Parts: sequence; C-alpha cells; structure tokens
Amino acid sequence: MCGIVGYLGNKNASEVILNGLSKLEYRGYDSAGIAVNTGSCLDIRKKSGRLAILADDVTKIKMDGTLGIGHTRWATHGEPTDVNAHPHFSENKEIAIVHNGIIENYLELKEELTHKYGVKFLTQTDSEVVAHLVDKFYKEEKDLLEAVKNTVKKLRGAFALLIIAKDRPDEIVAVRQDSPLVAGVAEGEVVFASDVSAILEYTRDIFYLDNGEIFYSKAGKNQIFDFDGNKIDKESVYVDLSLEAASKGGYDYFMEKEIYEQPRVIAETIERRLDENGDIKLDNIYISKEDLDNINKIYIIACGTAYHAGLLGKYAIEKLVKVPVIADIASEFRYSDPMIDKNTLVILVSQSGETADTLSVLREAEQKGARVLSITNVVGSSIARESHDVFYTWAGPEISVASTKAYTTQIVSLYMIALDFAIKKGTITKEYYRDMIDKLRGVSKKVEKVLDKKDEYREIAKKFIKSQSAFYIGRGVDSGLAMEGALKLKEISYVHAEAFSAGELKHGPIALLEEGTPVIAIATQSKLFEKMVSNIQEVKARGAYVVAIAQEGNDLVSKTANDVIFVPQEDDLIVPILAVVPMQLIAFYVSVLRGLDVDKPRNLAKSVTVE
Ligand code: G6P
Repeated sequence: MCGIVGYLGNKNASEVILNGLSKLEYRGYDSAGIAVNTGSCLDIRKKSGRLAILADDVTKIKMDGTLGIGHTRWATHGEPTDVNAHPHFSENKEIAIVHNGIIENYLELKEELTHKYGVKFLTQTDSEVVAHLVDKFYKEEKDLLEAVKNTVKKLRGAFALLIIAKDRPDEIVAVRQDSPLVAGVAEGEVVFASDVSAILEYTRDIFYLDNGEIFYSKAGKNQIFDFDGNKIDKESVYVDLSLEAASKGGYDYFMEKEIYEQPRVIAETIERRLDENGDIKLDNIYISKEDLDNINKIYIIACGTAYHAGLLGKYAIEKLVKVPVIADIASEFRYSDPMIDKNTLVILVSQSGETADTLSVLREAEQKGARVLSITNVVGSSIARESHDVFYTWAGPEISVASTKAYTTQIVSLYMIALDFAIKKGTITKEYYRDMIDKLRGVSKKVEKVLDKKDEYREIAKKFIKSQSAFYIGRGVDSGLAMEGALKLKEISYVHAEAFSAGELKHGPIALLEEGTPVIAIATQSKLFEKMVSNIQEVKARGAYVVAIAQEGNDLVSKTANDVIFVPQEDDLIVPILAVVPMQLIAFYVSVLRGLDVDKPRNLAKSVTVE
C-alpha cells in the first residue's frame, strides 16, 4: 500500500528513485510523484496514473539533483489525482514529504493548522498535514531533524515518512511507525524504500527500521534516533537476495512466471525443512511437545489469499493434530473480542508480512498472552520480527498482485507444521508421517504435469470471457479451494465470481444460475466425490456450463460435466495443491484474453498496510 523511495548521494536522484519506484509499483499504482532538491528549489512532479506517465515527464524535462524522494500511491484519502499524489509540500515549497500509511488524527491536526496558523490545504489527503507540521517546526527550530522529531510526536496512526527541505541539499530524514521502511547504505550514499527490492541494485547493506525510529542522514553520515531523540545503536544486515528473482525472466507477465515457478518453490519450501533423515525440522519454531500439550485451541488468521491457505491449514491441523482450529480473516477477528489466552496458539499467514490487519492481530494476541507463529514470505518483515515463531515460505519475491506461488507454499508450510505438531503429540503414526512427507516431496513433479496442460485451460478460459458471473463449488477442503479460485478470477478479470460449499447451493445460491453460467466444480475429495457428482447434476439441470476438476481415474464425472480437468491422483489433503493450478491459469487467461492489466488489477494493491 503505497511505495516510497528516497535517495541522497552522488547519483542523479530522480533516476534512482524512478528505478526504485518501478520495483514498488505492486504496492500501489494509481498515481506517482517525485521531489528533487536542485540546489535552488524543490522540483516536484506529480502525475495520476501509472508510474510510466511520471517517468515520461522526467525524461522530457530532466530533474537535476542528488537528493530526492518519490512515491507510488494507492489512494486512501482523496481521489488519485495529480494534486493528491505525493510528495506533499509546505505552502512555501520549502519542505517536501512522502508518506505510506494513514495519519489517523489528520482532521484534528488540519483543524489546528488551519485555524491557528492559517495554513491553506491543497489536497484531500491525510498526509499533507505532515508537510505543514514539519514546516511549522522547521521555521521555529531551524533544524530539520528536530522539526521531524517534534512532528512525529503529534502524529497518530501508521506512517513511514521521508522528509527533505529546500535549503538542506545534503540531508534526509526517514521515520518508521507501523509502516515498513528500510535504509540501504553505501559509501556516501543512502537509499530508502518500503522494501529491499528497490534498493538491492545499489547496496546490500540494509538497516531494517523498527517502529518508533528516525533515520537521519547528512552528507554521508547516518544516525538513528528514537522519537524522544535518544540515539540508537543498530547494525546493518547484509541481504543476499537475487535481483533476477524480481524480474519477469522471459515471461510476459509476473503472474504467469510466478505460476510456473510453483514446482520449484514448493520443493524449496519442503526440502529446506527436512533433516538428513528426511524428518521435518522447523528452524525458527520453538514449540515443544510440552507447549503443544498445553495448547487447547488454534486460530489461523490472515487476509485474502493467505486466509484461503489458512482454511486448508485448518483441515490439516484438526485432522492430524486433533486440536480445534478456527480460521478467520484478520479484519473481523480483531474486533470480535476473541477468546485468547496463554493456551492459545495464533498462526498468522501473510505473504508480505506487513498486512496491517494481520499485524494488529499479532500485537493483540501477544498482549493477551498467546503464542504467535507466523508463516510469511518476507524475511525481516514486521510480522516475522514480532512473532515468537516463524516459518518462512521459500516462494521468492511475488510481484503480481494476484497471489499464486505464495498460496501454494503457504499450504505446504501449514501441512508441514501440522505433521510436525502431530508427530510430536503422537496423534499420527510414524508410517503416516513418513508417507505424507514422501507425498509432499512428490507434489512438485505433479504440479509440473498440471502446468503442461495450459492449452486446455486457455480453451476453457475462452468460455468465461463474455460471462457476467461465474461460480465455484466444492466440498470439504475443496470448498476452501473454491474461494481461492473465485478470488483469482474476480481480482484480475473483473468477472463476478463467487464460491459456495456445494451442499449449500440448494439453500439459495442455485437461484442465480442461468443458461450458460460457468460453474467450476472442484471434485477432488474421494469421500465426497459422489456427492459432488450429484451437485454437478443439479447445476447442470439448471443450465450451468460445468467445468469439473477431478482426480485422474474418476471418469464418472466426464458423463456429467461439460469439461473436465483431470489432475494426477493424490492424497485428499494434498490434491488441492494440484487442483488450484488450473484455476490460477484459467483466471490468468481470462484476464489476458480480456486485454486487462494482469499484474496490476484495478483498485488493488499487493501489500495492504492500512486497516
Ligand atoms: C492483498 C493482496 C492479496 C493478499 C492479501 C494478504 O489483498 O492483493 O493477494 O492475499 O493482501 O496479503 P499478505 O501479504 O498478508 O499475504
């Protein structure tokens, strides 16, 4: 949710910033802006629309200067117009700021600035107050760092900020409170960004800022302070991440590339957690058998696709570990007065590790004494750092807004945790444990086979492109999977898609079916297969066009459905990892065939750092 980049050094700042912003566009892409200190003024350019429009402007009229800040926006307060785009600046254009997060008390501050100081606001954003506050203190203090310290004391909410001043061509101040911010340092240079991908090209020495920290850089010298002005000693971390991982690698779209990476990243997620005997070893999870015996309830909390992975995790943990599991979405869970205590384990699932709702759950759960285990894809993310135990998915950077490889690796991670807990608790036999590990290890090869049939999925996608609505149905774990299938289709192809538990159809949703409505019927569960076939017949009888997904060998379904996608035979718990892949590719092809922006769907953002 909004990406920010800042630079101070010896290079052309606008070039570094635009390059950095291009790596952060997944965080928001409705407008973008940049401010550069030219030595005589702050040159500020802001454009609604994609970053390319801003880049075009900067190419035509160069921005000269080695200090600057930039922003790519996902609008919260105020429409995505040129004016509302960041950077925001003070009335005299002496101060410019970029902000990621939400200033919750901005109305109160705006009121004060307007009435007490006669400030005239230009934008509808919450962020603009920051520029005026810094300006007000800067006029009093004549010290940029002090002005920022005074400003942050007045702010409530979430804010990652970068601040520069017209008459300070070699100073930049960065602040982090509940929104991500990292600083990369090299000889005589500092690059700030919302995530490391925007920095790695310049340096790999990274400072991960914590909440309540101010990073101040002046002429190649860096210092970190808390909000009270106390100095903080902190070491940089060397980040060893491949740059290539964040490029399209020959594919036309990140989503396509990420779908095709699944065999590899699933294998990585599994193999890195196996010891020399092939047993699961969870490096950053310190939950003993005794701890497990004391846990009487597990919550799995997440948002979006990660929540859908959690739904499958619930099945696995209840089945194997025999502990009740409640899966819920973070934004609801937090305000539901959940019954959490020291005997509760809260498992958070988050690709980015920065989702604001999920992060809030983490803090509340820890405050209530629960143990928090997080499954995340981003090393050093806020959720990873604040959790007691962490399981890293090895999916690599996921750039496309629609999540694919993160989802399948999250499922695998949840299954490994379930197996580890179950063997420790003695709720499964050693034979079953070994058998399931072998099956998990074999899943990558089977995903490859599923991916081989892309032409088949493309043909099926053609049947969806003119549809207004589509439905996804399933039973058992397949009903959780149906939710993910529907989400993929709606988020990137804008076809109204809904998921239903197949058994629930007759209680209302079946009334929505019309002649030719596409229904994806997921029928991978052996025990529930016949019941699904009956449900397929019910929807078919009402005119639906049914695409079934079933395990090879279940030929009966061919007699009922219009199209069948067969996936290799697999254990009922594991087969959803195979069955989701055709749904990802169908959604992808529908989006491509409709001529939409697959990787950056309208109104969405990859990392949602506001509540
Ligand atoms: C956004 C993204 C989704 C993602 C969800 C949760 O809505 O568009 O793809 O599933 O956030 O994100 P997280 O990083 O916590 O997994």
